[in-house]
Amino acid sequence: MAGVPDISLSDGSRIPQVGLGVLRVDDGEVGGVVESAIALGYRHIDTAAGYGNEGGVGRGLKASGYDSGPARRSLWLTTKLRDSEQGYDSALRAFDRQIGLLGTDYVDMYMIHWPTPFDWRADQVWKAFTRLRDEGRVRTLGVCNFLPEHLERLHAQTGEYPAVDQIELHPTWQQRDVTDFCRRKGIAVEAYSPIARGADLDAGDGVITAIAAAHGVSPAQVILRWHVENGTIVIPKSVHADRQRENLDLFGFSLSQAEHAAIDGLDGPTRAGHDPMTYAYA
Ligand SMILES: NC(=O)c1ccc[n+]([C@@H]2O[C@H](COP(=O)([O-])OP(=O)(O)OC[C@H]3O[C@@H](n4cnc5c(N)ncnc54)[C@H](OP(=O)(O)O)[C@@H]3O)[C@@H](O)[C@H]2O)c1
Repeated sequence: MAGVPDISLSDGSRIPQVGLGVLRVDDGEVGGVVESAIALGYRHIDTAAGYGNEGGVGRGLKASGYDSGPARRSLWLTTKLRDSEQGYDSALRAFDRQIGLLGTDYVDMYMIHWPTPFDWRADQVWKAFTRLRDEGRVRTLGVCNFLPEHLERLHAQTGEYPAVDQIELHPTWQQRDVTDFCRRKGIAVEAYSPIARGADLDAGDGVITAIAAAHGVSPAQVILRWHVENGTIVIPKSVHADRQRENLDLFGFSLSQAEHAAIDGLDGPTRAGHDPMTYAYA
């Protein structure tokens, strides 16, 4: 299987373009899921305080020998701050707890999970995040679910754009206004729910499955390859080793311009997750 390329970020870091998401994987189960992914070649894990499984992720890293030393430095680990812990002191306290659970000296990326524009504290959080970055405990600062107005608001208050915006992105929810803004500002786009939690695998009345058949690959591989060719970072979640392997095996085929146009044409008005204007993830 060909290797996963890195994407260069505005802060000089390099993030593996394909990672493993672990939302809705129990703390007791996630260690084995992480071990399986690392054994298959994943070098990028995406978790969050809100997933309640950072301790299990830490146990998986340790069991794989990726919790310290050169192995740890070869792996990208992302976690996120709970919305209820937004604030300067509360973010610093949260980070201490999170890194203890993860059992590692630093995280590669720490993210604001939701913008909560109705209770905006991202500027305070950013001060805590930059302190953690100065201390070398966090390498890269990111946000999730930020729309252009939230990115502008943060920039006006802090003078910085995040290096990464992790947003819901898949063929039937393409958010081109957000991705265009991010690309103009040098913010890397990371797709969560990249296959719409499975709902897009048969999108477009056979469009995806026909492309998959033409290349002898699966529908998930077609969608993930489309993201990869768009320059997007992807973090598909699977607890099954065979699907983890499939979701990493994206570099032996390419899509034609016509195939890109067909997938681009599947954009629609239905999100799989929540609305960043109104949602808070306690
Ligand atoms: N920042 C945020 O607000 C936010 C929100 C949502 C998600 N995320 C992150 O993004 C990650 C991915 O998103 P997601 O978990 O919502 O959805 P997803 O990755 O689009 O889809 C995951 C679902 O698809 C199935 N699946 C995975 N690979 C497959 C394949 N090759 N063929 C068929 N089915 C497959 C999985 O089942 P099995 O596990 O049973 O294989 C699971 O039910 C999350 O785990 C999380 O890390 C972030």
